[in-house]
Order: sequence, then C-alpha cells, then structure tokens
Amino acid sequence: MTLRLLSVASELYPLIKTGGLADVAGALPAALARQDVAVVTMVPGYPAVMDALDGAETVHRYDALMGGPAELRRGRAAGLDLLVLDAPHLFARPGNPYLGPDGRDWPDNPLRFAAFSRAAADVAAGLLDDYQPDAVQAHDWQAGLTAAYLHYDRPARRPGVVTTIHNLAFQGVFPAYLLGAIGLPAEAFALEGLEYFGQISFLKGGLIFADRITTVSPTYASEITLPDAGMGLDGLLAGRADTLSGILNGIDTEVWDPARDDLLAERYSADTLPKRAANKRALQDAFGLAASPDAFLLGSVGRLTEQKGMDVLLEVLPDLLARGGQFVLLGSGDAGLEQAFSALAAAFPGQVACRIGYDEAVSHRIQAGVDAFVVPSRFEPCGLTQMYALRYGAVPIVARVGGLADTVIDASPFALNQGVATGFQFAPISPPMLRAALKRAMALYDDKATWARLQANGMASDVSWASAAKAYAALFKRVAVRPSSA
Ligand code: ADP
Ligand code: GLC
Repeated sequence: MTLRLLSVASELYPLIKTGGLADVAGALPAALARQDVAVVTMVPGYPAVMDALDGAETVHRYDALMGGPAELRRGRAAGLDLLVLDAPHLFARPGNPYLGPDGRDWPDNPLRFAAFSRAAADVAAGLLDDYQPDAVQAHDWQAGLTAAYLHYDRPARRPGVVTTIHNLAFQGVFPAYLLGAIGLPAEAFALEGLEYFGQISFLKGGLIFADRITTVSPTYASEITLPDAGMGLDGLLAGRADTLSGILNGIDTEVWDPARDDLLAERYSADTLPKRAANKRALQDAFGLAASPDAFLLGSVGRLTEQKGMDVLLEVLPDLLARGGQFVLLGSGDAGLEQAFSALAAAFPGQVACRIGYDEAVSHRIQAGVDAFVVPSRFEPCGLTQMYALRYGAVPIVARVGGLADTVIDASPFALNQGVATGFQFAPISPPMLRAALKRAMALYDDKATWARLQANGMASDVSWASAAKAYAALFKRVAVRPSSA
C-alpha cells in the first residue's frame, strides 16, 4: 500500500532556495514515488510559492495563527504536491526566506517557523478531512517543533515523525520567554524538552521528540555524536544513537545532466568528453579569464561562510596562481570574504574571476567548464556541489569531512592503481593540507590519461537518489502509524 508522507520543508527547489535543503526537498518526492511513497510537501506561503501555486483550494482556515489569520492551501507547483501555509502576516515577504532587507534574520522568525510547525503538527494529528499522512519528515530547525507540538498535544493517534538534520549549525535558538507565544507549555523548558543553555532550541525539540532522526550522510551521522561537530547537541545525539542514521543525499540527475543541460555551451557525456573543452573556453570567455585550454582551471560555488572554509582557500590560491592555474568563484555571504575574493580577482585579472551573487545558470556552467572543483569545508553534512562536479566531469578536491568523505574517492596510489579514484581529499582542513592536495591535483592534471580516468570514474559514480529513496522508504514504513489499522 502506498505510504503517505508529509514532508515539512522551509525551502523547496525550484520555488525557493538558499541551499541544499531546497534541492533535497525538491528532488526526494519523485524518487520516493518510485518506492511507493506519496509525498505532500508542506511549505510556507512565501510570494514565490503563492505565485507558482496552481489550482489551489483552501482546505483549512485558522482565525488566528501566531498573530494573524492563515489558510492551508492544497495545490501543485513545479510537479510537486503542496500544502501551503498561507499566512501573509508571516510569509508575504519577497526574497530570502529567513532574512530581511537588512540582511539580518527576521525578528519574528521564531513565530514564523513555530506557526509552520504548528500547522504541520495539526495536519499530522488529523486536522484535514481528506488528507492524513502516515509519516512526517520534518527538515531542520524550521520544522523542528512539529515533533514537539505532537508530543505536548498528545493526540490519540499520530504518524511517526522523522526529524532530518541538514545542518546542525542552525538550531533555531531563541529566548525562553517565547514559549507561551508559540503555544508550548512551561514544562517544555526542561532538559528533556526544548531547554538549551538557558534558551529554547527548535531543533532540539525536533530531536528529542522525533521517533527517528536522520542526517544526510553516514559520516556526518557519526561526527555529530562527538563534541567537535556536535555543536552542543552531541550528548543528546549520542544518547539517541540507536534512532539516528545517516542517509546519503543524491542529486537531481535530470536537472544536473551534462548530456541534456540547455545552459551549457556544448553538451557532452562520458563518451563525448572532448566536447567538454568548449565549456571551459566559454567559461573563460564569460569570466574574462585568459583563453588557455591547458591552464588548470579550478572552480568553486557556494555560500561564503565559516562552514565552507573559503578563508583557507584564499590563503593557498596564490600558490596555485604562481603555478599558472586559474580560479573562478560564484558565491555570496560573509562581506569580508566577498571583498577578499573580489580583491584577488582585481589583483590577478585574466587569472582569477569571481561573481558575487546567486545564479543557478552560472553554477551549471562552472561545473561544466572547470577542470577541478574545490570544497574545502570545515564541516559538511553532505554537500551537493561535489556531486554535481562528479557528474559533470569536474574533478572534486574536498576536505575529508561529512558527506564529502562519503562521496569522493581519493586518488591515493592504491585507488589509482585499482582504477577507482574520483578526486582528492585532504585532512585536516588547513592551508598546508589544501595546498598539498592542490599540488597533487595539478600534477595528475598533467598526466592526461590519468586525469581522464578520474573524470570518467566520477561521471560513472552513482549520485542518484535511488538508494537513498529506498532507505528513506524503509524508515518511513517502520515509523508509520496507519489510523485505520492502529
Ligand atoms: P549548503 O546547503 O550548505 O549551502 P550544499 O552543497 O548542500 O551546501 O548545497 C548548496 C546548493 O546551493 C547547491 O545546489 C549549490 O549549487 C547552490 N548554490 C550555493 N551558492 C550558490 C550561488 N551563489 N549561485 C548558485 N547556486 C548556488
Ligand atoms: C545543508 C548542508 C549541506 C547539505 C544540505 C542538504 O545545507 O550544509 O551539507 O548537502 O543541507 O542536505
């Protein structure tokens, strides 16, 4: 029998995205459908979502939900089945879903995402006449309170809740006095509740009260039970280790397919790899880099934050440039890093180029045009860009952490000998280690046959959602509660 899953996600590709969570929430439904799991995705009614919503009907009206009227609307957009929380007082704000025009978190974020989780919990507990999920997947802190509301409401029957951690660095920590405003009892301010070093944490609520916890790679699942990566929640996670598992993300292999990607100068596949050179030329041209086919062109795309280790990359880039390499960056984030990369580009015209901003099309062109793609993260729950790189024949150079460790096979002498290497790993993250990895990569780049083998192996790696979807489906079936059979 088909299992009905309510996926509760604050971002959803292609409607609204700040990072990998959107990609995952957007791609999993199709993969799960092949495993007999029917997904309805609950998403806040941001303008981008409301505009895309097709043929929606109102299935519930709240007179007041955290300070204003709200509606649940059921409809479709971008091929996805949606349940949208249309609450204009909370979500009718264009742009970034979490930040105001001043670049800071909206001050009412706790109310916004408490309302979102409140509505998800209501639906889980049977609010709607014609839709009752068998299981719920609550993504990250924004959906974390779903499990907490269900716990404190104690409905007669409830579906199993899986809380999925995409990034432990974002925990939704707010002042404890908000408990009343978000409709949770005072008893929730407890060690076995939301209390977190004197404040309350939405994510902690999701972790304590979920039936199962997942995160997005096996290595990150073990890392977060230890202090270094546990971000204060390692004790809790170690204590719940029997309910915690890591399921490695996939990528949308239709959106990311160099053989069918309209955004590229020239499409190619593993069998027509020489055609890829046209994309390198086009990228060099578009970014004002010297048009040299043989220069080692390194690229990176991502958020410029502490997590991503771009400060470490900055330190070693001069070394790469001294050896004739080129570098191209697309990203935005930390103002200091934005400035530093722009300054480097100004100092090395024709050799370094950067675009500060967010641009899906350019991100595809970078993956298709660079020789190697670097992800020097300090921690990385999964990471998607190294998987795009594998699929596009850009050889990944990654820090050996989290999902990066799980997706790239280092070009060690042994792996090269066995013909299985797909890229380069380094650890620990530090300038000397990254420098050494870049040096290794540049040396192998000069050995054309070996480099082509790395590319071919990467392009043949399974980065699809197929095995993750199977693992999720099995998990959801295990936690599901069927109202009819309970
Ligand atoms: P995270 O979610 O931590 O940012 P991931 O690697 O999981 O890291 O996902 C990042 C996603 O956002 C990828 O799809 C990546 O291509 C995309 N992305 C990040 N920054 C940019 C940007 N400046 N322009 C276009 N896409 C970007
Ligand atoms: C988070 C993580 C990233 C992961 C993504 C999707 O944003 O930082 O590593 O790939 O979620 O799960």
